[in-house]
Amino acid sequence: MIDLRSDTVTRPSEGMRAAMAAAEVGDDVYGEDPSVNRLEAEVARLLGKEAALFCPSGTMSNLIAILTATHPGEEVLVDKEAHVLHYELAGAAVIGGVQLRNFDARNAGCPTGDQLRALERLNDPGHEPRTSLLCLEQTHNRRGGTVAAPEELRDAARTAREMGMLVHLDGARLGNAAARLGIPLRDLADCADSVNFSLSKGLGCPVGSLWVGSREARERAHVWRKRLGGGMRQAGVLAAAGLYALEHQLPRLVEDHEKARRLTRALHGARGLQVDADRVHTNIVLLETERPADEVISRAAGEGVLLTAFGQHTVRCVTHLDVSLAQMDEAAAAIGRAAG
Ligand SMILES: Cc1ncc(COP(=O)(O)O)c(C=O)c1O
Repeated sequence: MIDLRSDTVTRPSEGMRAAMAAAEVGDDVYGEDPSVNRLEAEVARLLGKEAALFCPSGTMSNLIAILTATHPGEEVLVDKEAHVLHYELAGAAVIGGVQLRNFDARNAGCPTGDQLRALERLNDPGHEPRTSLLCLEQTHNRRGGTVAAPEELRDAARTAREMGMLVHLDGARLGNAAARLGIPLRDLADCADSVNFSLSKGLGCPVGSLWVGSREARERAHVWRKRLGGGMRQAGVLAAAGLYALEHQLPRLVEDHEKARRLTRALHGARGLQVDADRVHTNIVLLETERPADEVISRAAGEGVLLTAFGQHTVRCVTHLDVSLAQMDEAAAAIGRAAG
C-alpha cells in the first residue's frame, strides 16, 4: 500500500526509536523530565518565543491556546476552512464556551487587514460577544497545504491587535511552510502570541505537539493542560522522539514537497480529475474529481493507494517520510485509473 491519507501515518524510524529508548526521563507533572524540558526550550528557541508546553496532540495544543486567550462568551475569528473549525469536534465551544466566527480568507488562508476590519463589531456589550482571538493556520491544510507569506501573516496580526485581539497560529505544519519559503521558523511565528507546533505530522514522531508562547501565558496554558488531562509523567520517551525529529527530520521536509510536485506532474492530463499545480506549495495535493470522492478513494484503495476525502468531489493526497519519490509515479498511475 502507498498510504497518502496523511503525514500522520508515519512510523518512528530506527534512529528515532533508539533515541526514545535512550531518553533520560523524570515526572513531567513535577516539571522534572529533562528530555521534555529540553524539547520545550528548543522549540521555544526555534520559534523565537519565551516558552513552550509539550501536549499530547495538536488538537489539545490548539484548544489550550484558545482557552488561554479567551473567556466563555467571547468569540474567535477563523478562516472558513480552518482545521480548528472542521476537525476539532467544536472543542472550543464545548469546553471553552466560545463561538468560532468565520471569514473566507481564500488563497493561502490568511485574511487581509480589510477582511478583518469588515468583521469589526460595534462595541455593544449588551448584545455582541467580545472578539478576543484571531486564529491563523500555516500551512493551511484544507486549502491544500498552502503557505502565506510572513508579511501577510504580520499584516493580519497587526490589524487583529488594533482590533483588540490576540493572535494564535495553528502551525501544525509550520516546518513545511518554513521549508517552502527557506526562512527560519521564528520568521513565521513572530506574528503570533501563541503557536501550535506539531511533531507527529511531517516530522515523523508518534505523538506530540507543542503550545508555544510567552512565559506568562504558559502558566495559564499549563493549568489548562492539566485540567484537560494532558499532564504526562515520564513523557521524555516522547520528547526524545521530538528532539530527534528537530535534528533529523525538520531539514528534510523539502523532500516531501518534491514528492508532492512529482505526484502532481505525473497526474497532469489524467482523465476524471483536476489538480491546480500552482496550489501545491508543500506536501499536500488536492484533486477535484468527476466521480464522487468516496468512489475514487475506494477504487484507488483497490489499486494499492490510500487517500482521504476532503469534500464530495475533493480528494487529498499527502506525501511524507514513509513514501518514496519513485512511488509517486506508481501512485499517480493508480489514482488516474481510479478517477478515470
Ligand atoms: C492544521 C492542523 N491543525 C491541527 C491538527 C490536529 O493535530 P492532532 O491530530 O495532533 O490533534 C491537524 C491534524 O492533522 C492539522 O492538520
